[in-house]
Amino acid sequence: MKCVKVPLKQLNDTRIKLMENGQMNMEYRIKASDDYGYIPINSDVNDYEIVDIELEPMKKVPHNFSELLEGELSREEIENLRTSFDTIGDIVILEIPEDLEDKKQIIGDAALKFTKRKAIYMKKSAIKGTTRVRDLEFLSGVDDSVTIHKEHGARLKLDVREVYFSPRLATERKRVMESVREGEKILDMFCGIGPFPIVIARNKETDITAVDINESAIRYLNENIRLNKLKGSITSYCGDVKQVSQSFNLKFDRIIMNLPGLAYSFLDVAVNLIEDGGIINYYEFSDSYEQGIKRLENACQKAGKKVEIMNCRKVKSTSPGEWHVAIDGKVY
Ligand SMILES: C[S@@+](CC[C@H](N)C(=O)[O-])C[C@H]1O[C@@H](n2cnc3c(N)ncnc32)[C@H](O)[C@@H]1O
Repeated sequence: MKCVKVPLKQLNDTRIKLMENGQMNMEYRIKASDDYGYIPINSDVNDYEIVDIELEPMKKVPHNFSELLEGELSREEIENLRTSFDTIGDIVILEIPEDLEDKKQIIGDAALKFTKRKAIYMKKSAIKGTTRVRDLEFLSGVDDSVTIHKEHGARLKLDVREVYFSPRLATERKRVMESVREGEKILDMFCGIGPFPIVIARNKETDITAVDINESAIRYLNENIRLNKLKGSITSYCGDVKQVSQSFNLKFDRIIMNLPGLAYSFLDVAVNLIEDGGIINYYEFSDSYEQGIKRLENACQKAGKKVEIMNCRKVKSTSPGEWHVAIDGKVY
């Protein structure tokens, strides 16, 4: 390696001068031995003694995901991967396109180094079935799918292999929580591990009934009730909300229906359980709000009630042209 040889006393000044002139080779380490320093160079330099000696290459510490995958994937592929990251507690879930499957190990290892989390999993299926859980494949780190996710100060414990949970709904949960009035009686028909109930009950003195058909989700909800300091109370039920709700002998000021693929088929149950003037937080997958509004109106009409639409929002994009939409309706 071509180097400038200078007395040790001049090493620092010379290094700075060469760096400023863009003449220092940053890929190698400067060597200091006896009374001389050796600075690697990448072009001819006048006024200095030039020698040829062996220098140690710099240990490159990659500091970002792109750098870790440079040479393996194109910039566009790296950017697409980056936007697919879902971080749940100390676990990262990635979506790896089929044409990159043969690079999944390199991608998983890079994601582990970049995120410094405990484990990296990749999505192996869509969210499916009644419990809305997806298959995951372990890629890198420690294969432990239980974690605690922090959201708006709440601690949410869950097993990413056993229950549904999306960190992308955090803003929606905060919005709903902020619209809740003190003292409300609330039913979460599809509560999962309880992110809506926990976030609400941490902040508002409420009386929440939470139902889910997935035993594992209810087990974690019960743990989450213990893990968090709550102002409100939460009572959990495991089972199909259509059956479980038959034993409820109270009406609710608010009903949360976050089962966007199927919530419409539970609207008759919700409309029967809502207090006069109560709010239904209804969700569905759609390219518009019209379908959801119609469904709410029809269900109310069948029960001899009316609905006033208070608010409609796009919660998140699910596929091109389709959204997870939220519709808030006041029922009379
Ligand atoms: C999309 S997840 C939403 C979970 C939670 N609300 C959240 O935001 O994380 C829907 C949940 O509905 C539950 N579920 C599906 N069908 C149900 C039913 N008939 N009765 C009660 N829960 C049901 C699933 O087990 C799943 O946990």
